[in-house]
Amino acid sequence: MMTKRIISAIDVGTTKICTNVANLDSGGGIQVLGVGIVPSHGLHKGMVVNVDEAKESIAESVRRAEQASGLRVESAYVGVTGRHISSLNSHGVVAIPRNDRLVRPEDLKRVLSSAQHINMPDDRNILHAIPRHYALDNQERVKNPVGMHGFRLDVETHIITAAIASIQNLVKCIRSVGVEIEDLILEPLASGEAVLTPEEKELGIILADIGGGTTDIAVFKDGSIYHTAIIPVAGYQVTSDISIGLGLPFEIAEAMKKKYGNVYPDMLTKSGETTLSVEDGHSVSCHDLCNIIKVRMEELLRLILLEMPDSNYASLAPAGLVLTGGSSKLSGLEALARSAIRTSTRIGEPMGVYGITDILHDPAHSTGVGLLLWGTRNQGKPAWETRKKSGAFGNFVNLIKKFFGV
Ligand SMILES: Nc1ncnc2c1ncn2[C@@H]1O[C@H](COP(=O)(O)OP(=O)(O)OP(=O)(O)O)[C@@H](O)[C@H]1O
Ligand SMILES: [Mg+2]
Repeated sequence: MMTKRIISAIDVGTTKICTNVANLDSGGGIQVLGVGIVPSHGLHKGMVVNVDEAKESIAESVRRAEQASGLRVESAYVGVTGRHISSLNSHGVVAIPRNDRLVRPEDLKRVLSSAQHINMPDDRNILHAIPRHYALDNQERVKNPVGMHGFRLDVETHIITAAIASIQNLVKCIRSVGVEIEDLILEPLASGEAVLTPEEKELGIILADIGGGTTDIAVFKDGSIYHTAIIPVAGYQVTSDISIGLGLPFEIAEAMKKKYGNVYPDMLTKSGETTLSVEDGHSVSCHDLCNIIKVRMEELLRLILLEMPDSNYASLAPAGLVLTGGSSKLSGLEALARSAIRTSTRIGEPMGVYGITDILHDPAHSTGVGLLLWGTRNQGKPAWETRKKSGAFGNFVNLIKKFFGV
């Protein structure tokens, strides 16, 4: 398959929409040519709740990215999140029937398809069916069995399902601004592409992208995805707590959080500041502001750990925890997380692209950059072909086509 040279991505976040346009250079590098960031409207906890408002925000973000790059955004990789997402690990098995017992690409498609036979209500469909590793007869943890010989082929997959209605609303908004969808990608998978190293994924690592409306979790192990989850709690709730707790308008609470927020109340007071003046003439206690933030973030860290498939974090994720997303910029969060999980913790900034990237060097843009990386890495690969054309994902694409007439 020919690789497309211009690639675009749209991160439809709860607080901001970010469209990135990039060029794939001849060496496989990703050169960002244009970025369009606007505040988002019509979204709640990662999902479209007002199509007209969301459409307008997406259109403006796309327009800005087109203006910056001088290129037209014809199609894009788009991020998906929200509490409607669920995931499971599923096993598939097929026989290799031919005399030569040689595994061919069509056998991979068959075995992946067999792993996708899961019980699912009619209003859901498969978003991703990612092969984690294969086994051929008694040989386990085979990464690519094509060309090998055997009688029985097994696959372990990570299956992510989504509510069809939520996806339809998102697809409708993107298509209505004249942009085709290359693929829909679960946001923590995209963020993982941008902030984690292959070594961390091999060893085992937890990623939490704490955004405005959702905290998106992905656990990687043995080089592939092992667990995903979405928690509908993030920066919005922190601001809301400050607003209610200190009697401030939401916008002022948001500004105070970003300027003075710290999960360790003592840190600010030690630096001599005990009261903070607010724009409208009021003043708030530094200790109160930070204490409210600390309580909410401790709670969120607990929720993240409750989502883990194993409470032995040292063996589940020897490489530790990486926090990213706009809310990971809260001062002191890294230390608070380290004491909660008792393993190494770092804040992840997106890597792996060059060009007009100054604005993208920010944890809030991990998903947007990751969508470009995911799109590039999966263009023309057999796994991508398999996902698009066969099994339940094929039905899913057809479903979108049926409803939107494309
Ligand atoms: N310096 C900062 N300190 C604390 N919080 C911050 C800071 N900068 C941004 N935030 C918070 O980050 C959140 C936005 O993060 P991000 O841009 O990753 O979210 P999003 O992608 O729009 O939303 P989501 O992924 O949840 O749909 C907001 O709640 C904002 O208050
Ligand atoms: Mg986000």
